[in-house]
Amino acid sequence: MSSLQNKQILVGITGGIAAYKSAELVRRLQDQGAEVRVVMTKAAMEFITPLTLQALSGNPVHTELLDPEAEAGMGHIELARWGDLLIVAPASADFIARLAQGQGNDLLSTLCLARRSKLAIAPAMNQAMYANSSTQDNLSLLEQRDIAIWGPAVGSQACGDVGPGRMLEVDELVDKAAAQFQSGLLAGKRVVITAGPTREAIDPVRYISNHSSGKMGYALAQACVEAGAICELISGPTQLATPPHCQRQDVESALEMHAAAMSRSNDCDIFIATAAVADFRPVHSADQKIKKQADSDTMIIEMVKNPDILADVASSEHAPFCVGFAAETQDVEHYARSKLEKKNLAMVIANDVSQQGIGFNSDDNQVLVVDHESSSAIEKLSKTALARRLVEEISKRYNKSAP
Ligand code: PMT
Repeated sequence: MSSLQNKQILVGITGGIAAYKSAELVRRLQDQGAEVRVVMTKAAMEFITPLTLQALSGNPVHTELLDPEAEAGMGHIELARWGDLLIVAPASADFIARLAQGQGNDLLSTLCLARRSKLAIAPAMNQAMYANSSTQDNLSLLEQRDIAIWGPAVGSQACGDVGPGRMLEVDELVDKAAAQFQSGLLAGKRVVITAGPTREAIDPVRYISNHSSGKMGYALAQACVEAGAICELISGPTQLATPPHCQRQDVESALEMHAAAMSRSNDCDIFIATAAVADFRPVHSADQKIKKQADSDTMIIEMVKNPDILADVASSEHAPFCVGFAAETQDVEHYARSKLEKKNLAMVIANDVSQQGIGFNSDDNQVLVVDHESSSAIEKLSKTALARRLVEEISKRYNKSAP
């Protein structure tokens, strides 16, 4: 799987003959699974039309800072926050100068100022303009501000000159973009993740379950794979597709999930329990569908405690680095900390499932990361983005704990 899979990439195009290559760049990023939006400066539109880029990207092309219609669709601040990566290719000498001065006098320069993501620029200009000390000073200033400078390449130029100033080839730009997302944080580590709900059978047609969709666990599996891990999901029933390059074992009940987890507990480096496991199951699951009793308006189901999968993995011989989740509705940190201690975990990710729009079956989540020394909050993010942040938190603590 490409590390660009499902990444959101904003491509900025400025005025230069290399702008025609930006069309190919958009295509190639999409071929790798990225979603691409394009922003063009006025000068760029002298070289290539927004219509071409719109047709290729499948999204409207953004060109104006103060366009009420465009703002009604996706405002410029929203657009600045949308991307995982902003690539300006080609970046002209004029644009580089404006960027170095921190100007926000058109849509693209404003997005560069308001962005949250990494910014990379691919300079493209005449070799004399590139060699000019003003351009060189501007580029060093941008480098000091952690803006990646990709290129330029050396070679013959459209104007007939030869030297450094050509935009890097599209292949090279795509490779550099992909490298941004290959953290290698969990390279070669074996990670097992439980995800989704469990179903505790009452009879052949009825069960007790909960609202877990599996989204948090699957997002973590994807983020672990992106970080280089060999990842396996032990999944309760969900509607989700298995993330590419991830093994998956399907289970139904807590007992099945317990057996699957225990069989791997000594054969993994990190165990992450996102599953919402039923704490109890019916003592007896009827062989046949239970019939309504004519003489009774109530029904009593006797329940028995399920094993605690996470606690059992964490207390097994050669236990892996164990990360629990805590679904709480009050005193979130207090209860998370008590699970950390009781289950003998390295860390707990706590979410307040009483809040609307996060937790069970939502696309976003907001969590508190609790370990034995401290706790820190992570703001509301999509589960995909949150999972990547959590991989950073987990790998940091795992590396500290590893002998
Ligand atoms: O699946 P989604 O719709 O994306 O929702 C995500 C989520 C809300 C389910 C997830 O973020 C979450 O909070 N998962 C843990 C839910 C839970 O059961 O929490 P708990 O506080 O009851 O359990 C604490 C920990 O022990 C959890 O890591 C749980 O997986 C584990 N556990 C609990 C009981 C049990 N018998 N075995 C376990 O392993």
